[in-house]
Amino acid sequence: MDLITITDPRSPVSEAYRTLRTNLQFSSLEDPIRTLVVTSPAPDEGKSTTVANLAVTLAQGGRRTVLVDSDLRRPALHTLFDLKSEPGLTNLMLEEDGEPFLQETTVDGLRLLSSGPKPPNPADMLGAQKLDKIIESLAKDADIVLFDAPPVIAVTDAAVLGAKVDGVLLVISAGKTRRDHAQRAKELLEKANVRIIGAALANAPKDSTIGEY
Ligand SMILES: Nc1ncnc2c1ncn2[C@@H]1O[C@H](COP(=O)(O)OP(=O)(O)OP(=O)(O)O)[C@@H](O)[C@H]1O
Ligand SMILES: [Mg+2]
Repeated sequence: MDLITITDPRSPVSEAYRTLRTNLQFSSLEDPIRTLVVTSPAPDEGKSTTVANLAVTLAQGGRRTVLVDSDLRRPALHTLFDLKSEPGLTNLMLEEDGEPFLQETTVDGLRLLSSGPKPPNPADMLGAQKLDKIIESLAKDADIVLFDAPPVIAVTDAAVLGAKVDGVLLVISAGKTRRDHAQRAKELLEKANVRIIGAALANAPKDSTIGEY
């Protein structure tokens, strides 16, 4: 278990996640965000780490939270929480009226839907209408549902999924994400009618871990 919001909730980084939680809530006072995708322009920019810590922080704040590993290409959340990779989302996609396969985490109020077995066609799977129903049913039974997703520029998954949810949070990694990649990711998401609700700065030098936008 390597999630700082669990292992060291009093650290400045955990405090920064609480600021991100607050900003998220304030960014949507009129129309609260119930379903949110976290992604980034390129690989290895801290998407999974960010979405997992944000989910922990929301649950610690009393919100019934569901975390979904919809990065079907490089699923990572089950490892972060020491849980099983399947059954998960891809199993659910094949069921008529299946149980949701949610696994309890060590954090009260936080449940994980793992990725499930890797499908040959992740983007098609995320584009299927069946997923709309799954998102709806998960949201019915939670205050907020967070989704991990592959990077925006390499594959269409995040844009396809992003169009089905209330908003997308873009992770930008300090010293790593290229400026033109950030711009390109924004354009790709906007073209897909995705609502970008903000950006979170990962890997920032001390004292400014999470930035505003
Ligand atoms: N804020 C951070 N500071 C330092 N290292 C970090 C930070 N966030 C993540 N990392 C490390 O960077 C690596 C990639 O992080 P993570 O898996 O969260 O990225 P990702 O964007 O989800 O990657 P992928 O594209 O493979 O899905 C991991 O080894 C993680 O431990
Ligand atoms: Mg990841």
